[in-house]
Amino acid sequence: MKVLAEGDLVLLIDKVGRRYRVQLKAGERHSLHSGAVSHDDLIGRPEGVIVSTQLGARLLAVRPTFAEQVTGRRRQAQPIYPKDLGAILIAADIHPGASVLEAGTGTGALTLAVVRAVGPQGHVVSYEVREDFMELARRAIVDTLGAMPPNLELKLGDIYTGVDETDMDRVLLDVAEPWQAVGTVRSALRPGGIVFAHCPNVSQVQRFFDCLREVSGFGLMDVFEVLQRGWTVRGRSLRPSHRMVAHTGFLCFARRLAEDTLFEPEGEGFR
Ligand SMILES: C[S@@+](CC[C@H](N)C(=O)[O-])C[C@H]1O[C@@H](n2cnc3c(N)ncnc32)[C@H](O)[C@@H]1O
Repeated sequence: MKVLAEGDLVLLIDKVGRRYRVQLKAGERHSLHSGAVSHDDLIGRPEGVIVSTQLGARLLAVRPTFAEQVTGRRRQAQPIYPKDLGAILIAADIHPGASVLEAGTGTGALTLAVVRAVGPQGHVVSYEVREDFMELARRAIVDTLGAMPPNLELKLGDIYTGVDETDMDRVLLDVAEPWQAVGTVRSALRPGGIVFAHCPNVSQVQRFFDCLREVSGFGLMDVFEVLQRGWTVRGRSLRPSHRMVAHTGFLCFARRLAEDTLFEPEGEGFR
């Protein structure tokens, strides 16, 4: 059994669903409105244990999931939502051993998801144009993984003006004007490779695909969005939640061809 240990990050969840992030340290206490929890009551106990404050409030203690870690911290840039992260990894076929070029790093949310998916045999290079954002992302990555993974390079640079990398399996763009990066994508992506762009507005989608057509050498252009409707599960009540994250962004994909031509079949393909 993997018991809770000193140094672990845990979420304490109260009876109304409020979540508190706590890094366990022997001898420390975490104070809440409903009383204080002693870290010593958690260290050595199994994950999923319910502890009580000295005032009798009950709190569930679990390690945060990847999605909870990504969404739970303060941030400067807008991270890709967990509902989209999973879809991007599958639709762009981010697989163990893949080489992936990304821009911009932002909070590092997509970077972390990609590093996990490519595994130790894979390689990720992430470009960020703002040094302060790059350093914040580096800190978030070290915070989450304990250290910078050896197969991740964070680079300060502008994806619009070109990169050193070539023959990459995948290129992932989450920048304001992805169409400005199509020249870079064209030279960095290997034939058969997949380019992804996250576009909040449909005008960006159109411009991105138009530019891929203009430079040529791309095909199988595809776009979709992910609508996730949560349901509440509480006692006898099982119904859709009142609120949902409706729009985040359009997820755009295309494949690099071996020739400087276009290939746009009429059918809708297979997702
Ligand atoms: C929406 S955020 C990316 C969020 C990121 N995908 C995440 O999951 O946290 C966009 C980032 O791209 C960076 N950026 C904008 N233009 C860029 C460029 N030309 N080259 C590299 N990074 C760029 C911005 O500074 C910002 O950090």
